[in-house]
Amino acid sequence: MCGIVGYSGEKKALGILLSGLQSLEYRGYDSAGISLKKGKKIETIKTKGKVTDLITLIAESNIDTSATIGIGHTRWATHGAPSSTNAHPHYTERVSVVHNGIIENYRNLEKFLKEKNINRRTDTDTEIIALLLDLYLSEGFDFKNAFFKTVEMLKGSFAIAAISKDFDYMMLAKHESPLVIGLSNNETYIASDVSALIEYTHDFIFLEDGDIALIDKGNVTIWDKDKKETKRQPTQIDWSKEKAQKGGYKHFMLKEIAEEDEAVRNTIQSRIDEDGNVFLDEEISISKEFLKNLDRITIVACGTSFYAGLTAKPIIEKYTGIKVDVEIGSEFRYYNYLYSKNNLFIAISQSGETADTKEPLKMAKSKGIKTLSIVNVKESAIARLSDSCIYTLAGPEISVASTKAFTSQLAVLYMLAFYIAQLKGKDLKPQAKQLLKIPSLIKQTFDKTQDKTKELADKYYNYQDFLYLGRGICYPLALEGALKLKEISYIHAEGYPAGEMKHGPIALIDENTPTVVVAHPEEPLYSKSLSNCEEIKSRHGKIILVSNKQSDIVDDFIEVPKVDYDFAPFVYIIPLQLFAYYVALFRGNDIDQPRNLAKSVTVE
Ligand code: F6R
Repeated sequence: MCGIVGYSGEKKALGILLSGLQSLEYRGYDSAGISLKKGKKIETIKTKGKVTDLITLIAESNIDTSATIGIGHTRWATHGAPSSTNAHPHYTERVSVVHNGIIENYRNLEKFLKEKNINRRTDTDTEIIALLLDLYLSEGFDFKNAFFKTVEMLKGSFAIAAISKDFDYMMLAKHESPLVIGLSNNETYIASDVSALIEYTHDFIFLEDGDIALIDKGNVTIWDKDKKETKRQPTQIDWSKEKAQKGGYKHFMLKEIAEEDEAVRNTIQSRIDEDGNVFLDEEISISKEFLKNLDRITIVACGTSFYAGLTAKPIIEKYTGIKVDVEIGSEFRYYNYLYSKNNLFIAISQSGETADTKEPLKMAKSKGIKTLSIVNVKESAIARLSDSCIYTLAGPEISVASTKAFTSQLAVLYMLAFYIAQLKGKDLKPQAKQLLKIPSLIKQTFDKTQDKTKELADKYYNYQDFLYLGRGICYPLALEGALKLKEISYIHAEGYPAGEMKHGPIALIDENTPTVVVAHPEEPLYSKSLSNCEEIKSRHGKIILVSNKQSDIVDDFIEVPKVDYDFAPFVYIIPLQLFAYYVALFRGNDIDQPRNLAKSVTVE
């Protein structure tokens, strides 16, 4: 759960490493470090804290900044607490290494090293890699062969970049953690993902599991998992630099909420024509015959992606007539799920790297279940593992709290429902055409609710507990709204089905626990939600209503544009995201990098 970056070329490496690390901080930000190689010397600077702390330290140092080879790392601690010692790069006299992932057999390897009187100085699993490399170099292997020998011994997940004092090339290895190579003339960049490198190149090689690579300025040699030299085709990624940066907003999160109309538009535009025909044939390689005869869809995901699945469940069921189960990845992987005869497995993941979603996907594949993924990050592990992948075209989501990924995932799930229904001979062109209008409705919602949510956040940001209630299609939105508030404002918030309140949570209601009620005006759900509001009022609870229809029972009202019930999630979620954003802003929190959280959870 870390970001790694590297450079080999003719330019000074330091600036490239530091700006790459800043782009990658969403992957982890409890410590950071770099190693620069010049001649036969490697210098390393690392520290606990963020990349800005590292920059200060470098400015105070007399490190040789003219080096043209270097590696860098931003960490989210797994083995060993955040500290300068445990920060990467990990180094010995001969090598320096950065690593993302977990070396599962590090204890056995440590024993092996101890028998040779080689001891760790840090608490990390990564140091083992540096020590093994050093051992083989000391035994006379060249760097390339020492690296091959070392990687052969490793079990677990890893993206590794290593440099050696005596050799001018860099070695890379990838297994179940992402690693991309950015290509350019006489120089090569590497990083955990393209957002760190997009300002330098648009041509990328996505290493595959088991790959080892040697990079030496502009030369790249790759060996596959069978150690056979291989060629990997570069992919062109046309995300602009500006797109991967804040673009005038104070935080990525606000920028990404403001981009939701565009994200959904990009996601649906090339897949639905103006007549309402849905085109997913090219992306779904699973046979149409199989899709027509599905008897169950099993959706597995975590966090916000899980809530997207939960939100779309009634829509898929309504339009396709197929039963949908929505399961949490971390539970599903230890549960003996009973698949039906014609079962489709769908993994949803923004990052495409979430271990708790990836593992169930692998399990489903091993049982011969057909798999489809809905992923935002191109060529990520989940995208590549599944039989078919439909990408959300939301662009990079940098803020740890997921926003535009949610609405883009919903857009794909809706399109998929319409597509399957279409295969089954149903006419859902009117609904597909309605989906085409959603992006402008999202934009209207953002414009209409931004000031109001800010005003209410100012009023409510000092409360310590919140309840979020919803019914029907608004219930998963209550869950997602509560999750957003928890994540970035650190306020305790619970999402609940409104009708379930009287079975327990009503005990929490008093004047200090405001409730956000998400209620579409569709009857009878609206009236029932208002009855719940009455119950709250009579216990002196404050109520914020998110709806298209005002009520005089509530204290505050966030009015959203009118939208049909089935499409309400795209609209109603926007003020919930904005409210969480502004509450966190008034509380002075680090919105894009909330404490204890990381963007891409690649460990269990
Ligand atoms: C919420 C959030 C997390 C992620 C979850 C799944 O704002 O960011 O709950 O949604 O970790 O991540 P992905 O979608 O990358 O699999």
